[in-house]
Amino acid sequence: MRIHPIIAGNWKMNFTPSESEVFVGKCRNMLLDIERSQVIFCPPFTGLERAKNALQGSTHGLGAQNCHWESKGAYTGEISLEMLIDIGVQYVIAGHSERRHIFNESDSWINRKVKAILNADLTPILCIGETLEERNSGKTEQVIQTQLNQGLNGVPDISGIIIAYEPVWAIGTGVTATPGQAGEAHAIIRQTIRSIFGADNVDALRILYGGSVKPDNAEALIEIPGVDGFLIGGASLKAEDFSDIAHIVEHKYLRN
Ligand code: 13P
Repeated sequence: MRIHPIIAGNWKMNFTPSESEVFVGKCRNMLLDIERSQVIFCPPFTGLERAKNALQGSTHGLGAQNCHWESKGAYTGEISLEMLIDIGVQYVIAGHSERRHIFNESDSWINRKVKAILNADLTPILCIGETLEERNSGKTEQVIQTQLNQGLNGVPDISGIIIAYEPVWAIGTGVTATPGQAGEAHAIIRQTIRSIFGADNVDALRILYGGSVKPDNAEALIEIPGVDGFLIGGASLKAEDFSDIAHIVEHKYLRN
């Protein structure tokens, strides 16, 4: 089965609403020939609506960086899925390492979010990945398995979920996983998903790599078996870089 790759830009806390609209418009013009890959823009909450305006009539996707699992109520500062759906959001990132480590999100919270996103008929992008300390103490496999088992607890079926492997030590550091490290982690993820859900649907599962993806390393990273696209931070804030990476991914798909 041929999997259509994904190039997702996680803008984190960058760009005002006006900047979001201009930036998406600029990227759109640079991505006119991207037809086989799914491009997804993930602005901050405040930029979603303006980004959506700039995406009218295109096939690119719109994603949020977070959500709350409850549909409404006394949760000061939180955003519900109903609010995101009203804007036209299709994807929601859950469990990003910055939310796990800076905001202390637990696997059980992330699990509630994943289930709520699925119940809302949106697509979760579940982020997992080990810290440097965990890698150096030989715990990478265990961390990946735990985050998947707990993050997906009670989820009936893996179809409709995107996984992003983002080793914490590679995020925003300029250090990328080597092809061996990324390939091994992606294989562990696929094997773990197979053991939780059975072999069905696992072939269609898309596992993205994230962590210092740039135009000059994207070619090597997308060649790694089991890497089905990227979740990009810093380089997704520069239209030229984001476009270059999208073209590298698209060309790899067309070549195969
Ligand atoms: P960088 O590409 O800036 O390392 O960020 C990766 C990331 O966290 C994407 O979610």
